[in-house]
Amino acid sequence: MDIVRPDAILVLDFGGQYCHLIARRIREQSVYSEIVPHDISSRELGRCKESLNIKGFILSGGPESVYKKTSPKINSEILNSELPVLGLCYGHQLIAKVYGGFVESADRKEFGIASALIDRPVGVLKGLKARTQVWMSHGDTVFELSEDFEVLAHTKNSPIAAFRHRYKPIYGIQWHPEVIHTEEGDQVFRNFLFEVCGCIANWKIENVTQKLEDEMRGRVGRGRAVIALSGGIDSSTAAILGARILGRNLSAILVDHGFMRENETQNVQKLFKGSEIDLIVVDAKRRFLDRLVGVVDPEEKRRIIGEEFIKVFEEEAQKREAEFLIQGTIYPDRIESGFGKLSSKIKSHHNVAGLPKKIKFKEIIEPLANLYKDEVRQLARGLDLPEEIINRQPFPGPGLAVRIVGQVTEEKLAILRKADRILNEEVLRASLEKDLWQSFAVLTNTMSTGVKGDSRSYGYVVALRVVESREAMTAAFTKLPYEVLEKTSSRITNEIPKVSRVVYDITNKPPATIEWE
Ligand code: XMP
Repeated sequence: MDIVRPDAILVLDFGGQYCHLIARRIREQSVYSEIVPHDISSRELGRCKESLNIKGFILSGGPESVYKKTSPKINSEILNSELPVLGLCYGHQLIAKVYGGFVESADRKEFGIASALIDRPVGVLKGLKARTQVWMSHGDTVFELSEDFEVLAHTKNSPIAAFRHRYKPIYGIQWHPEVIHTEEGDQVFRNFLFEVCGCIANWKIENVTQKLEDEMRGRVGRGRAVIALSGGIDSSTAAILGARILGRNLSAILVDHGFMRENETQNVQKLFKGSEIDLIVVDAKRRFLDRLVGVVDPEEKRRIIGEEFIKVFEEEAQKREAEFLIQGTIYPDRIESGFGKLSSKIKSHHNVAGLPKKIKFKEIIEPLANLYKDEVRQLARGLDLPEEIINRQPFPGPGLAVRIVGQVTEEKLAILRKADRILNEEVLRASLEKDLWQSFAVLTNTMSTGVKGDSRSYGYVVALRVVESREAMTAAFTKLPYEVLEKTSSRITNEIPKVSRVVYDITNKPPATIEWE
C-alpha cells in the first residue's frame, strides 16, 4: 500500500453540521477522508495532492441557499477535474445550479424521514431498493436540470431527489446518506468509493502511527516539549506518541485545575507510574477558582479556563525550556469550535479556542487533529496503552466547571463530585458502563424544596446525564433501568444533605449538547 499517499476523498465543507459524519462514513470503509473548506484554492488543492491520492470529492450540505448572491461557491477546478463528484443536499443543489438547473425554495420543505423512490438504480444508487428510507433536511429543492443530466430518484416533495451527469462521474443526492436514519446510506458511500471513484480500501489506523511519529520528529527535532496530560484517551495517546520520539525531552504536565472528579489526579498518577511518561502534577486549584469568581456565562468560563490553562503551561514550559506544546485535540473538537468557516460555533472546546493571542510557544503540535475518537482508541491499543485509559469516558477540558450551571464554588464542586461518584458506582454495579459514551452528574442552579425525615429541606437539584454515542456529534440519552435510577437518586439525596432532588436528562443531541454548558 502507498502509505505515503493513501487513496482519499476530500469532503468540501459548505457548513453542514453533518460534515464530519460524511468523513467518518468514508473512513469506516477503510478509505481516508479529509474535510477541506468549500472554497479551497487551487494552491491548497495542490498541497493536498502532495500527501493524498485524491480519488473524488463530496460536497457537503449547508445552511445557505444556492440562488443567493453571497452563497458559498465552488472552485471550478473541482468540477472540471474529471474526478468523481458527489453533492449532498446543498452540494446537490449547487451542482444543479452551476450546470444551469433551477433551484428554488420549496413550498413543502422536508425535514426528517422520507421515502425515496429509486427511478434508476445506477451509479451511486446501484443495488438500492425501489423504495428506500432516507433522512431529509432541506428548504430548497431542485426543480429542473440541464439536458446533460438525468434524474435517478424522487420523493413526494422532491421531483429530483438524485441525479447524475450523462457523460461525467458527477452525482447529486438531496438526502443525507451519512445520517444513520438513512437506511442504505452505507451502500451509497460504497458505490461512490469503489464503483465510481475506484478507491482501494486500504486505509487503516495502524498505518498512521509511523506517519504521525515522523511528522512529530520532523517538527520538534531535538527541541523540548510539554504536553497537557489529563489522563483521558486523547492526551494519553498524544503523550505516548510524544514520549516515543522525544524521550526525556518531553514533560507531561497534569494541571490540577480543581475541576477534576473524585480522586482523579491520584488515579492518573497511578496509571502512569512506571511508564515511559515523565508526569508532573501542578496544583493550580486556587488560581483557577479565583479567576472564576462571579463568572456564570458558559463561554466565558471556557475562555478563562483555557487561558489560565495555557498560562500554567507557559510557566512550566519556561522552567523546562520547552518551545513546543503538544495537545491531544481530535478532529471533532475542531469543527465544534467553529473550525468550519460556515458552520456556526456551538461551544469552545477549551483546548482549541481558549488560546491567548500571544502564545509563548514556538509551535503547537496536535498529532491527533485529524482523527476521530474511535480511531484514537485503535491507535492507543497499537501503542499498548492500558485498557483502563482506552475505555475511559471522555471528560471535558474545563472539567466539572462546565457541569456546574452558574457560579463555580468549592462547596458546589464537593457536592458534584459526590453525586458523580455515586452515579458511576451504580452504573458499574449494574455492569452498564460498556454501552455508554458518558455518564455524569450536573449541578443545576435550581434549588428545590424537599422533605427529609420530618422536616423541610431546601437544596440543590442534581441532573443525571447518561448518553450513548459513536463520535459525540450526535448522542441519544440512555434508557437506564428504573431500578438503577431509583437507587442512584435515593443514594444521592441520602448521602448528600445539600441535594433535595434528582432529575434525569432525557434530551438527545441534537437538539441538546452532551455537556450542559
Ligand atoms: P458537547 O457538550 O459539545 O460534547 O456535545 C461533545 C463531547 O466533547 C466533550 N467536551 C469537551 N472535550 N474539551 C474537551 O476536550 C472541552 O472543552 C469539551 N467540552 C465538551 C464532551 O464531554 C463530549 O464527550
